[in-house]
Amino acid sequence: MKRTGGTDAAKRAAGETAAELVDDGTVVGLGTGSTAAFAIRAIGRRVDAGLDVRGVATSFAARELARECGIPLVELPDVTGVEPGDCGVGAGIDLAIDGADQVADGDLIKGGGAAHAREKLVDDAADRFVVVVDRSKVTETLDDPVPVEVLPDARGSVADRVADLGGEATLRTADRKDGPVVTDNGNLVVDCAFGRIDDPDALATRLSVLPGVVEHGLFVGIADEVYVGDDGGDVDVRW
Ligand code: 5RP
Repeated sequence: MKRTGGTDAAKRAAGETAAELVDDGTVVGLGTGSTAAFAIRAIGRRVDAGLDVRGVATSFAARELARECGIPLVELPDVTGVEPGDCGVGAGIDLAIDGADQVADGDLIKGGGAAHAREKLVDDAADRFVVVVDRSKVTETLDDPVPVEVLPDARGSVADRVADLGGEATLRTADRKDGPVVTDNGNLVVDCAFGRIDDPDALATRLSVLPGVVEHGLFVGIADEVYVGDDGGDVDVRW
């Protein structure tokens, strides 16, 4: 569920400050959303000025923006040592910069842009994952609905199982056209309201094992730091 309270000034401060963390010769995970977009544009300006970097996009939208900004892109298998017919080992992403919809105690709810499956893959693979948010995203306890990407045929059964867990699932629909939101992976998103989430780790585990769940938007213990921007352009680094 998108929170719209944050200002562009605060998002810019967080995104552009995090973009300064990118070192020459490294691979950077490029997040999705309006705050991560400030980071992508700032990295693009640094590439124009001579920075040697390769980006791994977390979504179609992030890929398009990175291309527009002139950031050379590679695919995740290219940096994880995957050979054809082989799994490969290890992760080759030095730093990932990504937004979040809600942050409490370093844990996140993501997926407002329906990109959380690939975001989790890239953010978790990074040696350092820096979250960029404005202050409106920071709270004591997570309580926003949790986006859950599901196989299209599983939306009903997942909604039933979410009800068994004490939640209420709503199929996400697009703002300006009929029909559901379809993810980059061809799946659907159900937003699952549980109220206050006192134990994000336990809920994450319960959601992960539901048949038909591709990925949920609880990011527990994945973030290394959270850059919180404010309207005056200051950035507070937390967790
Ligand atoms: C997309 C995400 C985004 O990072 C999240 O929605 C934050 O976006 P914004 O910076 O525009 O508020 O998780 O799936």
